[in-house]
Parts: sequence; structure tokens; C-alpha cells
Amino acid sequence: MAGIVITGAAGFIGAHCCAALTRRGHDVTGVDNFNAYYTPALKQARVEHLAAQARVHDIDINDHTALTALLDDVKPSVVVHLAAQAGVRYSFEAPLEYANSNLLGQVSVLEATRKQASVNRLIYASSSSVYSGVSTVPFTEDMKLGTPKSLYAATKIADEVLSDTYSSLYGLDAIGLRFFTVYGPWGRPDMAYWSFADAILSGRPLKLFNHGNVRRDFTYIDDIVAPIVTMVEEAADDRPATPRHRVYNIGNHTPTPVPDMIAHLERLLGRKAVVELAPLPPGDMVETFADVQRLQRDYGFAPSTPLETGLERFTDWYLQWRPRLAGGERAL
Ligand SMILES: NC(=O)c1ccc[n+]([C@@H]2O[C@H](COP(=O)([O-])OP(=O)(O)OC[C@H]3O[C@@H](n4cnc5c(N)ncnc54)[C@H](O)[C@@H]3O)[C@@H](O)[C@H]2O)c1
Repeated sequence: MAGIVITGAAGFIGAHCCAALTRRGHDVTGVDNFNAYYTPALKQARVEHLAAQARVHDIDINDHTALTALLDDVKPSVVVHLAAQAGVRYSFEAPLEYANSNLLGQVSVLEATRKQASVNRLIYASSSSVYSGVSTVPFTEDMKLGTPKSLYAATKIADEVLSDTYSSLYGLDAIGLRFFTVYGPWGRPDMAYWSFADAILSGRPLKLFNHGNVRRDFTYIDDIVAPIVTMVEEAADDRPATPRHRVYNIGNHTPTPVPDMIAHLERLLGRKAVVELAPLPPGDMVETFADVQRLQRDYGFAPSTPLETGLERFTDWYLQWRPRLAGGERAL
């Protein structure tokens, strides 16, 4: 089988993609710069425990020479580009990190990919944040996006525009995936479900934004990985007949009030949360809600894992790993 390159391979979604694709017999090469946005020890642990069958290289996607050399060496049929500076709130603190990884980085990956003749398809991560300037739900892919509410959202909209341009200029087949609040085992410590679980277990207060009036379309990691695998395999052997650029929502199409998510965690962890009410932080959206008809039409798939089921898998994993994570880097 032809090789697959995954950027952001030590990240939450990237490591799960490495695991799923290697399980299906693909030869997977990963790229990640192991940055310290959250503990690199968790990224290393994902590589060791989830992505063990992939070869993950410590490369920054902005090191264009190294990235090009890697693609030349591997000659992948599909590139799955998931490396980015993630997180809405951090984009108010460190805008240049977003410009570097999400704007320059996207161009570096697009340029390396279009020059590499073996590549049949580029699949890249966009985000539900592209809808931050939209006030009606559910969100459909053809909606006019308006003015984004954060720099993170702006970079993800820019990634789609850049990819659309590359696709039309160079005949690159490209698929942008608008992920909705992804959660699960080996997740991200900066996200609410993880930090809330940690607060509940430590007896620390957790902040409930917009006084609890926030709804999220929580999407279980396996429901994100499954369509990515299908999209990879569709293009692994042959170049699509009509190369083009498309975007898809991947979300659970079930917006859930954040207090309900906390209630599930309380039940699963057997402890009550100490809740502090707080206003909505700048950039945060009140509601996310994916329309997934396009994904269903083209790929016959829609995410369906109930939040309670997915959170149980997360807490099972978290209770097992938390002592090692809390022990710091050496304990991993
Ligand atoms: N998790 C979600 O809920 C969610 C929602 C919407 C969109 N996304 C997007 O999906 C993608 C994956 O997200 P994730 O949740 O796995 O995040 P993550 O932070 O766990 O993974 C991203 C990985 O990319 C790496 N990286 C960052 N900048 C890099 C660079 N310049 N060069 C090389 N590697 C670099 C990081 O070290 C990290 O391991 C991102 O593009 C993110 O914006 C995620």
C-alpha cells in the first residue's frame, strides 16, 4: 500500500488517525513539532501508546525544506494535515503562534503537497469556529461565514481559502474538515471536558461560562477518525477523476448544554462539581450545531456516539492515566 503522511501526528486527532490507519495496514509517517502548548509528555505518550506503528518525525511544518524532503522520501498518496495551533482563547494571548502554524504552515503544507507528484489528495483540519460569525443553527457548509470572533477562527477560514486557491491553481484534490468539539481518550487538557474532569476529581471549582447557557456539538473521536479513514482510502490508490476542493462538517448534530456534560462527568466520576458562574469569554460561541447532510450524502456516514457513551470511554481512560500525567513528564 502507498504511504500516508499525517501532520500533527502526536496530537489528539492525529495520533488516533495514525492508530486507525496503521491498524488497517497503511504505512503511516507522522510529522509533529511536539510544541509546549500543552505538555509534550502527553504527545510523546500518544506516540508510544497509540501511534506506535507509525514513524513520527520531529519536524516543524514551517521547515519547508525538511517537509519537502520527507514527502520526497515517503512519496505518500494522501497527506492528512492536522498540525495547527488549536484553541480559541489562546489566540487572544499568542496571535503569532496562529499566524505561524495555521497560515504559514498551511501554505508550507499546500506547497510541499502540490509539488509532490505522488499525492492524490490532501485532507486538512478546519473547524466549527469558522461559523463564529454566523447566528443561525444548524450550520451548513454553504453558509456565508461573516466576521470571525477570534484569530483562531480567522486562520481556519483563511486555510479554507488558501486550499481552495491551491486546488484551483494546481488541480490539487483537497478536503477541509470542520470538526466540532472533539473529545475522547488521549484528548486535550486545554478542553472543557478534560479540565472539568480534573477540577471535579481535585475538588477545585470549575468555571461555567455564560452562566451555563452554552451548547456544544460534542463529537466523539472515533466519529471523526472513521470518515477520515474513508476519505484516505478513497484516494489511496487513484487520483480522484475530478480534483477539487470541498469542505465537510463533522459533528454529532446534537447540541448539548454544557451543564448536561458536567452532570454526566459527575455521575461517571462519582463526585459533585463545584461550579463558578462566569461571563462568556471573548471569541467563544454560545452554540455549535453541525448539519451533516453533505457528509451523509457523499460518504453515507454521520457521527452518532452519544455523549454519555463517549464520556464514559474518556473517564475510563482518564482515571487510568491521570496519576501518571499528574506525576509530570518523567512519570509518563
Ligand atoms: N479537537 C477539537 O475539538 C478540534 C476542533 C476543531 C478543529 N480542530 C483542529 O484539528 C486539528 C487537530 O487538533 P487536535 O485537537 O488534535 O489538536 P492538538 O493540539 O492535540 O494537535 C495538533 C498537533 O500539531 C502539532 N503542531 C502544532 N504546530 C505545529 C507545527 N508548526 N509543526 C508541526 N507540528 C505542529 C502539535 O504539537 C500537536 O501535537 C487542528 O488543526 C485543530 O485546529 C480540532
